[in-house]
Amino acid sequence: MSTSSSNTNYVGKAPNRVEGPAKVTGAAKYSGEFEVPDLVYGVVVSSPIAKGKILKIHADKVLSLPGVLQVFSHENVPHQAWFDRNYKDDVAPGGSPFRPLHDDEVKFSQQPVALVVADTFEVARYAASILEIEYKEEKHETDIESQRDKGHAPSKGKSGYKPPSSRGNAAKAIEKAEHRIRHEYIHGTQHHNPMELYASTVHYHPDGKLTIYDKTQGVLNCQQYVTKVFGLSKDEARVINLYNGGAFGSGLRPQYELFLSVMAALELRRSVRVTLTRQQMFSIGHRPHTLQTLEMGTNPDGTLAGLKHYALHETSRFEEYTENVVNWSGMLYQCDNVQLGNQVAALDVYTPQDMRAPGAATGSFALEVAMDEMAYAAGLDPVDFRLRNYAETDQSEKLPFSSKRLRECYRQGAEKFGWDRRPLKPRSMREGNKLVGWGMAGGVWDAQMQKAAAKASITADGKLTVTSAAGENGTGTYTIMTQIAAETLGLPLEAVTFKLGDTDMPEAPVQGGSWTAASVGTAVQKACLAVADKLLKQAKKMDDSPLKGADLEDVEFVNGLIRLRKAPEQSVVLRDVLQVSGERQIEADSTAIPNLLNMARYSMHSHNAVFAEVQVDEELGTIHVTRVVNALAIGRVLNPKTARSQVLGSVVWGISMALMEETVTDHRFGRYMNHNLSEYHVPTNADIRDIDVIFVEEEDPYVNPLGVKGVGELGLLGVAAAINNAVFHATGKRVRDLPIYIDKLL
Ligand code: MOS
Repeated sequence: MSTSSSNTNYVGKAPNRVEGPAKVTGAAKYSGEFEVPDLVYGVVVSSPIAKGKILKIHADKVLSLPGVLQVFSHENVPHQAWFDRNYKDDVAPGGSPFRPLHDDEVKFSQQPVALVVADTFEVARYAASILEIEYKEEKHETDIESQRDKGHAPSKGKSGYKPPSSRGNAAKAIEKAEHRIRHEYIHGTQHHNPMELYASTVHYHPDGKLTIYDKTQGVLNCQQYVTKVFGLSKDEARVINLYNGGAFGSGLRPQYELFLSVMAALELRRSVRVTLTRQQMFSIGHRPHTLQTLEMGTNPDGTLAGLKHYALHETSRFEEYTENVVNWSGMLYQCDNVQLGNQVAALDVYTPQDMRAPGAATGSFALEVAMDEMAYAAGLDPVDFRLRNYAETDQSEKLPFSSKRLRECYRQGAEKFGWDRRPLKPRSMREGNKLVGWGMAGGVWDAQMQKAAAKASITADGKLTVTSAAGENGTGTYTIMTQIAAETLGLPLEAVTFKLGDTDMPEAPVQGGSWTAASVGTAVQKACLAVADKLLKQAKKMDDSPLKGADLEDVEFVNGLIRLRKAPEQSVVLRDVLQVSGERQIEADSTAIPNLLNMARYSMHSHNAVFAEVQVDEELGTIHVTRVVNALAIGRVLNPKTARSQVLGSVVWGISMALMEETVTDHRFGRYMNHNLSEYHVPTNADIRDIDVIFVEEEDPYVNPLGVKGVGELGLLGVAAAINNAVFHATGKRVRDLPIYIDKLL
């Protein structure tokens, strides 16, 4: 990156989204919108029972309808390679992935059991609605409450799952402590519910090759899945995803619309589109219903003597999905006696799936409410209590932090919020007939980087194109990558095009874990630096070049020039270099990998502190979140506008998690009852008031060359707990199961 100021220093600036005009004009195409010739439509039929067998599918009546092409079910879906080899996708947990239309078994309510294909969507939808299927029901169990205290084995987990480590003797320390608390915290099932429905448009080309437009957070993961499952070569299955209308983790794994649309396209030798309904969006994975117990004790000086945190959450019968729910409790605070445990119980539900800050969102909810309860038990202000227990090192990993400015998050957040005016006692603030409460909480998330590649190519007219098979969930990926590329080669933003979401592009990880900025950003920078190196070599060959003898470190690329750092007036024009070189384009491929040595030496995390104000109507019990301040330390902020937008979305999620969001199961039927957006409650504009986002300055020389930690998930942490703690402060009543409905307060 160039150091001196210039017009082409874009990193840290706040340009608008580069894809904004395409989105607002409708030019941006989502997976269910691509136009392909002779398209036919598949509509999914979902099981009404949670467990049992399919006895008979009465397809005849449906097949006789004009326009209906086929009814696919386990009775006629051809044998696939993976049915024997049990192929897993890249982010699959242990076990055996769900295979749509594989056999007569029903394993969860809303399981896809048939696909009706017709030449119009309307006919397909009508035909699917009248398809009669006979089932034999078996006894199901969908309630995690039934699994309480059953002594489940500690979870083995998915790839990336870290079994929590314990230290000292927590039980003894808590027993001897001055003050103690022990409580259970519960939250129900939640579903991701992105605005965009899951959809796949499969373009079947005359030569039998497929171009697949799928809603996913990982085109390469989907390509792997399709090639392995259907025995295709990569060349036969290109997967494209240019935009996502939200995903939040639901697109990390290939969803069943992908399998069904590809299967139907291959069978019918035609282009097929399958779009799920909003109800079916509740059958593609969820944040699991989780029970947690926290126990804590403090010493007379307000330091933590011991901490115990146990979690039990659901998984399916066929895959062992496990979240890192309790791990954060071993590293967020200084404590020598910590005991952690994580268990899962198999139920007749679909496999849960990572949902925005999986594990941490729920684990930190319990931890941070418990911290509030502990602070009150010890008679301490909640911020003061946290400062007394500030972790200077990561005690779980026994490593120093690569950087940690959480203290500054507490300070700046508290100052902006006006925390010092807060009376400790609950029910001590009022505004008219409203009780007012102030609460706070914090969070921690991994600053991760994955291997990623990018290709940069500059043409003779000075236009730069950079590509990587990354994803864009609406987070700002297109924009920040354009900024990084433009700055690295000193070009105006308008001269740079960043493209993503195509399996023909260099390899990138799934868009998740808040790691895209760090991973793909580093690859983009590296590819552009490789182009810079080639350009410099050309520049040195020019007649009277002032750059002769200069190495890459000696020059900077700014304002369309290559100039000497020590003598900026000595420069060459980049376009001239390209002209003189005689090359039509100069390009480079680069792969960036995380620095394993730094990873072994440092614990790398982002942190935040959230302050919330609620007003509770004393008679009606209604709760409004009137103010939230979220202060975050995320390393370098690439674009404060898109980063802030990420945090605003997270705060809205947190308000939702605290007060509204829950998928309710009728356990008699093992079925989600509010699987639609009118009964699955999320905030609307009127529910959202003031949100302040503070990015605390944080330099991290170890985390990755860009110094970024990512922000997609961190912003959610602490929000639900801060609101919960504010509700206690307002009312004196502690609600330990989310969401805080009115009836729990009255
Ligand atoms: Mo995120 S839950 O890794 O999409």
